[in-house]
Amino acid sequence: MNTEVCARFGIEFPLFAFSHCRDVVAAVTNAGGFGVLGAVAYTPDRLEEELRWIDDHVGGRPYGVDVLVPGKIDKAAEGGGGLDALLAAVPDEHWSFLVGLFAKYDVPLPDFEKARRSDARGGARVTKEGATELIDVSLAHPIGLIASALGTPPPLMVERAKAAGIPVAALVGTPEHARRQVAAGVDLVVAQGGEAGGHTGEISTMVLVPEVVDTVAPVPVLAAGGIATGRQMAAALALGASGVWCGSVWLTTEEAETSPPVKEKLLAATSRDTIRSRSRTGKPARQLRSAWTREWEGPDSPGPLGMPLQMIVAEGAMRQINKVAESGNPGARALANYFVGQCVGLMNTVKPARQVVYDMVEDFADAVERLNAVTGTG
Ligand SMILES: Cc1cc2nc3c(=O)[nH]c(=O)nc-3n(C[C@H](O)[C@H](O)[C@H](O)COP(=O)(O)O)c2cc1C
Repeated sequence: MNTEVCARFGIEFPLFAFSHCRDVVAAVTNAGGFGVLGAVAYTPDRLEEELRWIDDHVGGRPYGVDVLVPGKIDKAAEGGGGLDALLAAVPDEHWSFLVGLFAKYDVPLPDFEKARRSDARGGARVTKEGATELIDVSLAHPIGLIASALGTPPPLMVERAKAAGIPVAALVGTPEHARRQVAAGVDLVVAQGGEAGGHTGEISTMVLVPEVVDTVAPVPVLAAGGIATGRQMAAALALGASGVWCGSVWLTTEEAETSPPVKEKLLAATSRDTIRSRSRTGKPARQLRSAWTREWEGPDSPGPLGMPLQMIVAEGAMRQINKVAESGNPGARALANYFVGQCVGLMNTVKPARQVVYDMVEDFADAVERLNAVTGTG
């Protein structure tokens, strides 16, 4: 294929794969697409290990890294008071709610004290200071792109990336965000519609992509949100995008990090089984509807906290829930969930990640042929 991003990023197919799993990133890159590793879950040391592994498995082919740098976070995290300040800012009623929830669903409690400290460390990484460490680790590797979600990338990220000759991408959910990102120096805009998995706005991909393309031209745009097939990839290019950026579709691949009970739920889910909820991170994120999302909206819920405090409350709990769900505990299975978009309804079989790439390319070619038949060309 031949779009602006194929030439610019040295790839065969303009298909970018966001994943927290290094195996998916390497598989997509090796299949002719562009894998992007989500770094938010990693400590700087662990990220270093993951990137070294990717370097060893892609033979110099291009890949990227995504860090999460939220524009707005909870005041307790802005103060820079470290782990203790973050932990102290979580009200007792949130821990009590969790204890009650585990009892209600008959799930053994995790070691909350240990989980609290480890998740506070995780929460600290979604502050500007925390993200900076991840950016430094990433830029020391031969990456072909650095991306940021949830806000304008910090000037330091743009400056350091530009100095290293590495293009910067940013996810946007409105044309206004896109304008701000380009003014901040972003080279590639990912227009992510509200049907996407993870943090998302409300404008659908079909409406957002042409709006953003017109707003930021000539800066190239990738379409994201709801894309899991080659037909949708063809539609995205027709809307003016130079390629696509997919996240959900990798979650049911053989390589994915998804826990087996959640994978089962994803394969069975329809496009109506997701919800935008603040219950995992404190910001609206699309995820699988489950007893977890229902309980956080229920009458006993204290209501989710802001980011990153809600991550401290939720991530240790979800880790325990997913672990216990693997042993067949029915309550844990009811609560288990993960970030996923509406295209979960199109994800019905487990395949290797490279096969997803090849299937999308083939489906894309069929779609183009159908369009050519409509116009009498080709
Ligand atoms: C499990 C999961 C985790 C995600 N985490 C992040 C993240 O940390 N940073 C980010 O920029 N985007 C994240 N996203 C959003 C993806 O980058 C991508 O924009 C989105 O998945 C595209 O829509 P789709 O899910 O319909 O493919 C995540 C998506 C999923 C499904």
